[in-house]
Amino acid sequence: MIIQQNISLKSYNTFGIHVNAKRFVSITSVYQLQQLLKEEKDIFLLSGGSNMLLTKDIDKLVVHLNIKGISIDREDQNNVYLTVNAGENWHEFLLWTISQNYGGLENLSLIPGNVGTCPIQNIGAYGVEVKDRITKVEAIEIETGKLISFSNSECEFGYRNSIFKNYAKGKYVITSVSFLLTKVNHKLNTSYGAIETELENRNIKNPTIKDISDAVITIRQSKLPDPKEIGNSGSFFKNPVISKNQFKALQKEYPNIPSYIISENEIKVPAGWLIEQSGFKGKRYGDYGVHEKQALVLVNYGNASGKEIHQLAQNIQQTIKKKFDINLEIEVNII
Ligand code: EPU
Repeated sequence: MIIQQNISLKSYNTFGIHVNAKRFVSITSVYQLQQLLKEEKDIFLLSGGSNMLLTKDIDKLVVHLNIKGISIDREDQNNVYLTVNAGENWHEFLLWTISQNYGGLENLSLIPGNVGTCPIQNIGAYGVEVKDRITKVEAIEIETGKLISFSNSECEFGYRNSIFKNYAKGKYVITSVSFLLTKVNHKLNTSYGAIETELENRNIKNPTIKDISDAVITIRQSKLPDPKEIGNSGSFFKNPVISKNQFKALQKEYPNIPSYIISENEIKVPAGWLIEQSGFKGKRYGDYGVHEKQALVLVNYGNASGKEIHQLAQNIQQTIKKKFDINLEIEVNII
């Protein structure tokens, strides 16, 4: 365990923002983490760096969670129970599950980040949320160094939300996530329009989990920028939920407004649509801007600063408030 001095975090966050870490350490085991926490409790945790916007240098010790490993806890004819350590890359793990014909995660293909952070914001795409497959999350309590186990219900999952964004925020380091996946009779979720269309284009009538994963990869690649090429953090905002009355009023003015019904009185509206209607889609300001194919994604074309991107986000929020009287909530962690 070597503590390095003055490291640039540019290659450790998918936005590709350069800030300086005064001290930096990479952790490869739970034991190392427990030893470190005996000495240092005021730490800055870094995993895949896929859901953060760095706006300033980090003075705290940056702890890079690099604990790897996948284990099969048990299996029967129908199901497999896996535990995956936090530092495994999400998409590489997912491709491995597909290669083993373990079903359940295929709709979540190509989401950036590591396994350890997937429960924090309850990653979701194309009709599936990771909470549907998680059985347990293990974490080290920073204060005591104890390993604590959270059952699925104890994680208090919601839309892009969990206990780790609320009560438990900053108190734990997630070290592993356990999943229940299917070996046979996979419960496929192809109801999302874009998946249906992609499977039709490929003339696939009875899709396998690999077919679905491949379709999702194609859809994402066509809409979302690859962080290796253009820095970004996926959806920068959450899709806002508004009242039915407000939605009806909006629909009069914008008959084509897309929507998803949440409950009898609540409607979710795509933030990407609101941002596009406000004229921001594809706008570039110097080295940063709004992605040309999905307005929900803010991008760094090279050397933008986190402050510049944050300012653009605030500008978008104010414009949406004025134009639609809707509060857009930022989904990415602003550091
Ligand atoms: N839309 C626009 N303009 C845009 C973007 C979207 O009009 O620039 C419209 C689309 O035409 C469509 C609707 O908005 O009618 C929904 O768009 P899309 O299917 O792309 O989904 P989204 O609601 O914008 C959410 C997730 C994505 C996830 C997709 C697919 C959130 C905040 N985002 O986006 O998640 O991939 O659904 O399931 O819920 C992420 O979290 O990083 C992420 C990419």
